Amino acid sequence: MASRQEHTNFRSNSSLVFTLFLVLCLLKPQGHFALHENLNHQKQKQQLYHTVSVSSLLPFDDQSSCNNIIPSSTTNGLSERKASVGIAHRYGACNVSPQGGSNKAEAGANLAFEILSNDQARVKYIKDRLQNFKSNEDLSLTSRKRDKKNGVYKKTTNLPAQRGTALGVANYVVEVGIGTPPKQISLIFDTGSDLTWTQCEPCVTSCYKQKQPIFDPSKSSSYSNISCSTPLCSNLKSATSVTPGCSSSTCVYGIQYGDQSFSVGLFAKETITLSGTEVLQNIPFGCGQNNRGLFGSTAGLMGLGRHPLSIVSQTAQKYGKVFSYCLPTAKANSRGYLSFGSSGLPANLRYTTFSTSEDLFYKISMTAITVGGYQVPLSATVLKTDGQSIIDSGTVITRLPASIYNPMRDAFKKLMASYKLAQSYSILDTCYDFSNQTTIKIPTISFYFSGSNVKVDVVANGILFAVNGISQVCLAFAEDDNNNIFGNMQQQTLEVVYDVAGAKIGFAPNACV
Ligand SMILES: *[C@@H]1O[C@H](CO)[C@@H](O)[C@H](O)[C@H]1NC(C)=O
Ligand SMILES: *[C@@H]1O[C@H](CO)[C@@H](O)[C@H](O)[C@H]1NC(C)=O
Repeated sequence: MASRQEHTNFRSNSSLVFTLFLVLCLLKPQGHFALHENLNHQKQKQQLYHTVSVSSLLPFDDQSSCNNIIPSSTTNGLSERKASVGIAHRYGACNVSPQGGSNKAEAGANLAFEILSNDQARVKYIKDRLQNFKSNEDLSLTSRKRDKKNGVYKKTTNLPAQRGTALGVANYVVEVGIGTPPKQISLIFDTGSDLTWTQCEPCVTSCYKQKQPIFDPSKSSSYSNISCSTPLCSNLKSATSVTPGCSSSTCVYGIQYGDQSFSVGLFAKETITLSGTEVLQNIPFGCGQNNRGLFGSTAGLMGLGRHPLSIVSQTAQKYGKVFSYCLPTAKANSRGYLSFGSSGLPANLRYTTFSTSEDLFYKISMTAITVGGYQVPLSATVLKTDGQSIIDSGTVITRLPASIYNPMRDAFKKLMASYKLAQSYSILDTCYDFSNQTTIKIPTISFYFSGSNVKVDVVANGILFAVNGISQVCLAFAEDDNNNIFGNMQQQTLEVVYDVAGAKIGFAPNACV
């Protein structure tokens, strides 16, 4: 009933229908497909709008029900998935105590600024990595002051890390145990890098502030150094772009993320405990004794890339190089997870292949986008060249080249024409003032990827991003001519399966709330 009525309203916007008609006529093969699609959608009663309350778009929706910052696998109903850990949204209602503002809206605006500037740094990191970025700094375990005197190191870095110039603050976090007996640490998990590392005692030069105690390998019975002469050590270079060093025959790693964040330390092996029964032994990791950056208050990073050193490759025997996640929304009652192995995966997964020629990131092919059930007019040529998309757990806002973003944004704007536009904000150019609204109707947005019916519906909270209370709520996509990155905001509540052995990515809807 409801969707029928919505469709009628949509049809009454005759100028839009006419414009779409013109576009469809001009683009023949796609146009034909588009009309076909729409007919099918009508038949299937495809949802054309999300009807949501405006307050549900705000990040600090309901902090009252927060009692657990990172949900454990037992509290989020994942008992059938044994190799699972809970995921928290770093900026979720339960992780943020609004700061720097006298009210929620101001705190939200500060946070939005931080999220978006960090996100730009993330995109820069991806671009640098793709362009085979070589660190021109010599990362060292020792003090940089001494370096200068010795004249050994030509470059020095500028201290301290600036606000909004670090990787990963806006990312998702898991909690795992490290060492024997296990000590709990929270790590940002990252499909866009390979090395897993955590800050370690002794902090030879510096460690940044983290929430939990810094891991002390001298108190763990399962810790072992990796020697410089091992293949593991020589493999580091291709995982980090930094030539490993050697300290009394122990391999020394260094990794740098785009701007001024880095970690340097001993390359070692440890036991990582996901849950009581899921214990991973001898996992290579960086024991960081010199670390800098704004990694939130997390202890480090978990690398989920495809490199032989990543935790995915290192646990291949146990989990068959399969992992999956469901990213929760920022709401207080939201629960997500990161899971290893293929047991318990949903039956309704749709798979698209990822490119195996690209080994730094997971790259998939967009084949169509629909907005409000209507296919955005994109030519096959545009999709072939600009539709190659990196799916990334660490980028927040989906980036699209102008050739794809502009027609998508235009379609969205037309369907949102009844709402008052607000000023653009940072990289977000389409914003609305919903001050006078209590509920709104947002056109649905779906992405199609190559393969059989690989349709990914973006949830309402992944379409709009409140940057300044309800008076400035923006389309959560950005134009970027150098990048097509499918970001984590648009992946919320989906089960996303990375089948690295099968070179495919699977999607299923409504896997978590
Ligand atoms: C690991 O290597 C470092 C540096 O060579 C050394 O100080 C430390 O004692 C070693 N730890 C173990 C457990 O071998
Ligand atoms: C809200 O409604 C008032 C009264 O009708 C109007 O003056 C104001 O411009 C409206 N604001 C927005 C953002 O639509």
